[in-house]
Amino acid sequence: MKVSIGADHAGYIYKDPIKEHLQNKGIEVIDEGTDSSQATDYPDYAFKVGNRIKEKEADLGILICGTGIGMSIAANKVEGIRAAVVENDFTAESSRTHNHANVITFGSRVNTIDEVLKFIDIFMSAKESEEKRHVGRVDKITDFEEGKWEK
Ligand code: RB5
Repeated sequence: MKVSIGADHAGYIYKDPIKEHLQNKGIEVIDEGTDSSQATDYPDYAFKVGNRIKEKEADLGILICGTGIGMSIAANKVEGIRAAVVENDFTAESSRTHNHANVITFGSRVNTIDEVLKFIDIFMSAKESEEKRHVGRVDKITDFEEGKWEK
């Protein structure tokens, strides 16, 4: 398992604790920055992480900004990315089981670091549901992206 991680200046304080948490579990982490609390633009990190997944250089992406929202909006512009804003245990689990999210985003101004670490563990131990209804819905998103969606 390889994880690509990125943060803007608002999420920067959470990046190293998340990295350490994952590395302690033997997970390889690719750090895409940022490397300080100096103001920067969240789309740059969202696209770096998204492209890693798209190019199959990482299996999962983690993005942190102030709310998780900007990171999610930007990452979802990358082909094949299903980025979910996660704020609680339920969305940590269902973003993987129901939505087959391959990127999860967090807000440092929304959740504590301890909560975020717990959400990551829940997400990573959950499995993508193979139930037809969930697979079919995710397939519709892919079809739309590929110009094949029909109402
Ligand atoms: C930066 O102040 C903030 O707008 C950004 O981190 C993020 O919350 C955007 O979605």
